[in-house]
Amino acid sequence: MKIIMLGAPGAGKGTQAKMLADKFEIPHISTGDIFRANIKNGTELGQKAKTYMDQGLLVPDELVCDLVVDRVKQDDCSKGYILDGFPRTIPQAESLDAALAEIDSKIDFAVNVEVPDENIVNRMSGRRACVACGATYHTVHIPTKVEGICDRCGKDLILREDDKPETVTKRLNVYHEQTQPLIEYYTKKDSLVEVDGTKDMNEVFDAIVEILGK
Ligand code: AP5
Repeated sequence: MKIIMLGAPGAGKGTQAKMLADKFEIPHISTGDIFRANIKNGTELGQKAKTYMDQGLLVPDELVCDLVVDRVKQDDCSKGYILDGFPRTIPQAESLDAALAEIDSKIDFAVNVEVPDENIVNRMSGRRACVACGATYHTVHIPTKVEGICDRCGKDLILREDDKPETVTKRLNVYHEQTQPLIEYYTKKDSLVEVDGTKDMNEVFDAIVEILGK
């Protein structure tokens, strides 16, 4: 199954993508995680991406498209994959479709996780992320057993640089301008499905699984 997660920053795409990847035993490919790993490792790609990410802007398409297209052609993606954070612009979606058409493949579902803007800033300021294993938590909704420590790997949690309220507002504006048009794009391709992302994360997960099973 080839799935794209759509939704505003902080809508819960990453949370759901990880759960779906575990259930369907397919890779979870997050472009945000790929960039953050590159930043942590001090690569040239990471340095370039950081200048955009810290301002709440999108990394230019040319730095993203080839990276994802190469990744989905790897052997572990033969049964399917979940793309989280890609595509984020119409040109990214077109480049993905063109690359998949070359290998006689296509996206099965674009899952839009809907959360109103007013819920987002609160979610982001409460998010804590583990830079070691990528797990995410929320100080109120999804707390860790020990404050500030990852349940999964025991390392320290951080507040992401781009989760500060002023940057979140910028990211939301960028989302509405550049990423929201993808909803219409995938509706026209008959692959869009929508879930209410304001519900508890397990309810959101069950709703997605039910839709995908149909
Ligand atoms: P990226 O890492 O993809 O960030 P994003 O899309 O802004 O999404 P987030 O990771 O912030 O949120 P999410 O929807 O995954 O929510 P989460 O599950 O964590 O990208 C970061 C940056 O990289 C971009 O700004 C851009 O610069 C660059 N970039 C990445 N891809 C790119 C591309 N394709 N093109 C160009 N640039 C690109 O949940 C949020 C919080 O809410 C967490 O604390 C979570 O625990 C909590 N939560 C989740 N679900 C629920 C629930 N149901 N109820 C209550 N709390 C919940």
